[in-house]
Amino acid sequence: MADILTTPRITILDDPARAAAEEISALLDETPSAVLGLATGGTMIPVYRRIAEGCAASRMSLARTTTFNLDEYVGLPPRHRQSYHHFMTEHLVNQSDMNPARMHLPDGAAPDPDAEAARYEAMIARQGPIDLQLLGIGANGHIGFNEPGSPGDSRTRVVELTARTRRDNARYFAPGEPVPTHAITMGIATILAARRIVLLATGSGKAQAIASLLEGVPRSDCPASFLLRHRQVHLLLDPAAASLIRR
Ligand code: PGA
Repeated sequence: MADILTTPRITILDDPARAAAEEISALLDETPSAVLGLATGGTMIPVYRRIAEGCAASRMSLARTTTFNLDEYVGLPPRHRQSYHHFMTEHLVNQSDMNPARMHLPDGAAPDPDAEAARYEAMIARQGPIDLQLLGIGANGHIGFNEPGSPGDSRTRVVELTARTRRDNARYFAPGEPVPTHAITMGIATILAARRIVLLATGSGKAQAIASLLEGVPRSDCPASFLLRHRQVHLLLDPAAASLIRR
């Protein structure tokens, strides 16, 4: 069957994190119990800071929200400082009125990671669909930990991280501390099942990945390009991340 492709909405602005927080805030005004798909990484820190400010000023509330994060490192228990569970606790749960019992991530310390991936996928199917999925993008075009080569019909599963991603993420680990080799990630089809997707990219390091995503056809070598199959994608970019888009 031929792909039906769409052109994402693109907004270029100096503070895309603020715009992402505002989109989430507008959704929660309308639907306080919305299901959010959340992401980790440096790009998301200012988004969560804006959300925390909104909660502190009673302009927004996450109290009734259910959240599902994209991914987690295999081998890191929730308390580990570099786990994504810890990242979410530090940057969002402890800073907002979010109910930690409604925050979900794959359990990186599960004894059977494959079974944990299947459990997580089933839980999203049961409690979803995700109303708004927040995404970052890797310099290599990954979304979640769907590295180049990931199929468009992939679901939540255990994946091996590329050397490039491990190198990119080493900055979040102590010098000499090993970066995990595997992760549990929502698949590309899991991500595409969200009602709408907001992808945030900042800095020139993401410019090539954004240009590749927009090149025209979904390709496994740029996993983010599968977003062209979704009808409601909004790219929020700063000028540096948008700098290689061909007009
Ligand atoms: P970053 O990660 O925000 O830390 O650059 C984004 C990603 O890899 O998805």
